Amino acid sequence: MSRFFTKSLAALQPYVPGEQPQDMQYIKLNTNESPFPPAPGVMKVIGKAEVAKLYLYSDPDCKALIAAIAKRFGLRPEQVTVGNGSDEVLWFALRAFCDEETPLAYSDITYGCYKTWCSMLNVPSNVLPLREDFSVDTGLYRGLKCTVMIANPNAPTGICLPLSEIEAVLRANPDNVVIVDEAYVDFGGESAASLIGKYDNLLVVQTCSKSRSLAGARLGFAMGNPDLIADLNRIKFSFNPYNVNRLTCLAGIAAMEDEEYFQKCTSAVAETRDRTAAELEKMGFDLTDSKANFLFAKSSRIPGGELYRKLKEKGILVRHFDKPRLENRLRITVGSDQQMNALLTALRELGA
Ligand SMILES: Cc1ncc(COP(=O)(O)O)c(C=O)c1O
Repeated sequence: MSRFFTKSLAALQPYVPGEQPQDMQYIKLNTNESPFPPAPGVMKVIGKAEVAKLYLYSDPDCKALIAAIAKRFGLRPEQVTVGNGSDEVLWFALRAFCDEETPLAYSDITYGCYKTWCSMLNVPSNVLPLREDFSVDTGLYRGLKCTVMIANPNAPTGICLPLSEIEAVLRANPDNVVIVDEAYVDFGGESAASLIGKYDNLLVVQTCSKSRSLAGARLGFAMGNPDLIADLNRIKFSFNPYNVNRLTCLAGIAAMEDEEYFQKCTSAVAETRDRTAAELEKMGFDLTDSKANFLFAKSSRIPGGELYRKLKEKGILVRHFDKPRLENRLRITVGSDQQMNALLTALRELGA
């Protein structure tokens, strides 16, 4: 930290993203990317002619992209906004709906950025414990007087809440915004987007990074009541009006319009996940019931940190969180069948 860094953020602990080795020698199962390339239409729309237009700013209203997303979800364009990854959209939401008097409530085991953003924005955290089996106890989410953040499915556990429980939280907090972070919903969860017309305090946030194979394009979106969306746009236009670049706008539209490819990729990931989970269970691993594109697994024989290191030595990268209750577990992204076979072979060789 330089002597110029603001004292107000002296305690800030940045989020540590999964490793992104640039040499690509690893089987990369550590950041929940898709094993598949973007939809074929994405490659078609990003040609030389579009690259040549990069001297121009992108459309700050992202009209065509928002129209494509709204159509896909049966919403009106004023019920949708977009951002540079869902991280940015979620950050806008915290900036818009939290402050010193309105803390953010979230689980003790969940996406690490929520905590980091709270400390950056001076927002108090109301951290609610998961049950022993890592499930969310929505009974704790009643009349909180907090903005509520629920990752559904949760990360890194992969466990899903049914829509009835999300509705219970919405009803129990009618005067606060409930943000449902659905980064992983397309692999077997139930989206709360269908509830948007019913609850004016619901904000659903999704990403194109996982199920639409666009992690490197950085595109996320929020869906909700037009007033909530206008609030997010107020933050966006006060910060970075051109937050989604020209190429990503085009890529996002092409990805949204190819429903068949989306269904094919998400079902393939779900099938590979379930097959891999069954194999791991046979080997004695303890697993949560993940509905996401990753598994959350504990070896009965090798501690988590050691197994992470041994897999890395064998050229396989997974994610290990050195935190209470997580230290013996690995979060393993569901890759291609071939990648998962390589993982299973490596684990057998290691005696895990
Ligand atoms: C639960 C959750 N939410 C949001 C994100 C952010 O995704 P992105 O910014 O790539 O859209 C992630 C990324 O891994 C995540 O795990």
